[in-house]
Amino acid sequence: MRMRVRQLVINSYWLHTQYPEPSPKTGMATRTLYNEIGYPLTVQTATFAPNVSSNIHNHGTWGVVAVLKGREKHTFWKRVDDPQFPNKIEMVGEKIIKAGEIISFTPHAIHQVTAIGNEPAFSFTMYGDTQPRSRFIFDTTKHTAKPF
Ligand SMILES: [Fe+2]
Repeated sequence: MRMRVRQLVINSYWLHTQYPEPSPKTGMATRTLYNEIGYPLTVQTATFAPNVSSNIHNHGTWGVVAVLKGREKHTFWKRVDDPQFPNKIEMVGEKIIKAGEIISFTPHAIHQVTAIGNEPAFSFTMYGDTQPRSRFIFDTTKHTAKPF
């Protein structure tokens, strides 16, 4: 999938024009590129204004992200085996993805995206079939996960 995404990113001028302006309220925006009944892929572009972060979330499916402009920091988390807090997570690492680079995730990935640098981060994202009730937003202080 990474190889196919790389071909698309390199060869599609159109894709680079699908830049959603970040919302003045949230500092982020997404644009859906593909939506077809029976093919439940999520294919979109996303923009984050400088220093804006997403919440900490999972996708419950595989994912490929290609950064087209700017830089994204992906912070990764994993669940901690704690009987008292079944949704407790701990940070396990971070990776900076620059324009031209691609990252992929397994269905177990939990991440947070932050645009770093002085320009917005603009990326192409593709996620597999998301099962109902498999996506969550994690709260690292209350150790809770709410449906996303
Ligand atoms: Fe995500």
